[in-house]
Amino acid sequence: MARFDESRPEMTVEQFRLLRDHVYSHCGILVHDDMKFVMERRLWPRLEALGLADFGAYHRFLRYDVQRHAELEAAVESLTTHETYFFREPVQLRAFTDELFPLLEKRNGRLKRLRLWSAGCSSGEEAYTLAMLLKESRRFDEWDVEVYGTDISRRVLATARRAEYGPSALRATAPEMLERYFVPLPGNRVRVRDDVRAWVSFGHQNLLDEASSHLVARMDVVFCRNVMIYFDQSARRRVLRIIRDRLNPGGYLLLGHSENLLNLGADFELVHLRGDLVYRKPELPGGEVR
Ligand SMILES: C[S@@+](CC[C@H](N)C(=O)[O-])C[C@H]1O[C@@H](n2cnc3c(N)ncnc32)[C@H](O)[C@@H]1O
Repeated sequence: MARFDESRPEMTVEQFRLLRDHVYSHCGILVHDDMKFVMERRLWPRLEALGLADFGAYHRFLRYDVQRHAELEAAVESLTTHETYFFREPVQLRAFTDELFPLLEKRNGRLKRLRLWSAGCSSGEEAYTLAMLLKESRRFDEWDVEVYGTDISRRVLATARRAEYGPSALRATAPEMLERYFVPLPGNRVRVRDDVRAWVSFGHQNLLDEASSHLVARMDVVFCRNVMIYFDQSARRRVLRIIRDRLNPGGYLLLGHSENLLNLGADFELVHLRGDLVYRKPELPGGEVR
């Protein structure tokens, strides 16, 4: 088959392996063998931006250049999927509000403090959704609540902090929620209301980086949805160890609907709610709460 653009360098199999392994060891994202062409197409603009002749030079740049850290972020940016929207996976969110909220209210009632983490939050819709659901329940009105969103991509985090969204992000948002928690802007756009934003903050974090994970406070609930689908088993195990470490004993982990902990040997309990399955970090011996 004729090449799309003869003037652009082709990625050799060896260069593909080197680049794939480099990206994988940085962020756990696995680029499968049949995605060589996709990787080539997505990284061409980076070669052009840097004025490099071929992918061998690009690999050397990623390894040795003083700008290598920033460039690795740009490469990962080109290779990751940031698809997300408000109120994604409503069945799980209903189980979360109907069944976990009462448990969390009881459990943390003495301290009146709640910490939620949206790990791999993309442009922020998930973190704001959780804050809106907490507000909507009225159970936590006088509480010290923080929803923390983290992602490896600084570009999506900038969007998250701006908190302004268009119709595609709102495609699963009920009209009454739209009315209650968003302020209309010109051009069919909206901004998340300030009292919701006050509960939510964002930070840059590579989920595979154990050292920086200690910056994350101890959490009561972690949502890590539609992130680990892009990882292999070994990267998933590493991320799960980190998440488990950041959860309070008895804290919950909610994954995306196509994800589970089968064959990962992760030390979580499976909890059968009426509406969904979630995972829980085991309590400390003797049932100590914190
Ligand atoms: C498909 S989005 C999921 C967003 C949201 N959790 C949801 O379910 O709607 C996956 C996000 O994971 C992020 N991601 C991928 N690898 C990561 C890593 N190693 N550390 C942190 N975030 C990562 C991507 O940048 C992307 O924004």
